[in-house]
Amino acid sequence: MCKVKTVVLGVTGGIAVYKALDVVSRLKKQGIEVHVIMTKSACEFVNPLSFQALSQNMVINDMFDEPKHWEIQHISLAKKADLIAIIPATANIIGKVSNGIADDMLSTTIMATKSKVVFAPAMNTNMYTNAIVQENISRLKGLGYEFILPDTGRLACGDVGEGKLAPTDVISDTIIGMLDCPKDMKGKKVLVTAGPTIAPIDPVRYITNRSSGKMGYSIAEEARDRGADVTLISGPSSLRRPFGVKFISVNTNSEMLNAVLDNYKDQDVVVKSAAVADYKPQSYSSEKIKKIDGKLTLNLIKDSDILKKLGDIKEKQILVGFAAESQELIKNAEIKLQKKNLDYIVANDITSKDTGFASSYNKVTVLCKDGQKILLEKMPKRMIARELFNLINGKR
Ligand code: CTP
Repeated sequence: MCKVKTVVLGVTGGIAVYKALDVVSRLKKQGIEVHVIMTKSACEFVNPLSFQALSQNMVINDMFDEPKHWEIQHISLAKKADLIAIIPATANIIGKVSNGIADDMLSTTIMATKSKVVFAPAMNTNMYTNAIVQENISRLKGLGYEFILPDTGRLACGDVGEGKLAPTDVISDTIIGMLDCPKDMKGKKVLVTAGPTIAPIDPVRYITNRSSGKMGYSIAEEARDRGADVTLISGPSSLRRPFGVKFISVNTNSEMLNAVLDNYKDQDVVVKSAAVADYKPQSYSSEKIKKIDGKLTLNLIKDSDILKKLGDIKEKQILVGFAAESQELIKNAEIKLQKKNLDYIVANDITSKDTGFASSYNKVTVLCKDGQKILLEKMPKRMIARELFNLINGKR
């Protein structure tokens, strides 16, 4: 980290409050200044003293506390913050901010800030999926507030479902990512493809590739936060559309090809992280194919290699591909780099257990056309995206 950054951590009342302690500790280890504001109900779960000890700052939990210095606290913290993170964020604080209610220290500080605000929601799954909560989240996202989405798992109440606080390392890495983002891509145009494509067989069946879209969406978000004008072309993905990017939704290889070609000409950087289906059924059956006795043979024909086409018509664009490999990672990636006329290729070992596909982490080697090979050890996908743009922008 170059200069000391300040994070104001808002802690609201839920069983996951204790996990926010770990986030404070992780941020402090990165040299980040942390100020904690707790709501009254958060103080019922964990004593403010724990946050005080870890943050090495007084914890603020009452708007009418005598000011420790002659400053109006919610205004001074709102100004001081490089980022405000609410961990865990209850339905209540999300609802309050979404509806402009400022009635305690935390909500007034959020209202008074001009810095980025990120929520890490945690609550019972029925609360989280409640249409009102979802509408509040959508509204806030539309206004530029960020969310670190909860995981699915066993919740404190015994229910299993969406609503579990995201892992604390993912939260702290996301915060660090948001804080230390260079603004070096203002005026640049970046095109990213992400997710899988599908090749329909009949109205109910299709062939596809494994891809959550997380890597591509992280790349799009990193480019956006660095100031670029970003277009994200995505195959089917359960991820939410990132705010502040032009989003084009596609299904098939040919839809992705057309969308990419329509937008290619004036791009500065094109990153093709999508897992494109290489084959499609020779013919599409408009009726559902009925079960038959014995074997069913499906004839597949080759579909377009989108990236190869882009390499063939490349002008000024910096072209970045991904290589998903289960063997001879570097050798196969080198062949793709040459064959598709790329500037960089990100080689991804898909056999690795705790990285890749649905994971929030990745471990990759970036190969450059000048022969350089850069290993990026296991790190959050957002950090991989950061390192990739650092390389492209000559910062490594
Ligand atoms: N790609 C593409 N169109 C395809 C296949 C791949 O644009 N039909 C792009 C991917 O987005 C990725 C790169 O090419 O950036 C390499 O994709 P990958 O699946 O690793 O390799 P393939 O070229 O499909 O070769 P193979 O499946 O034989 O490894």
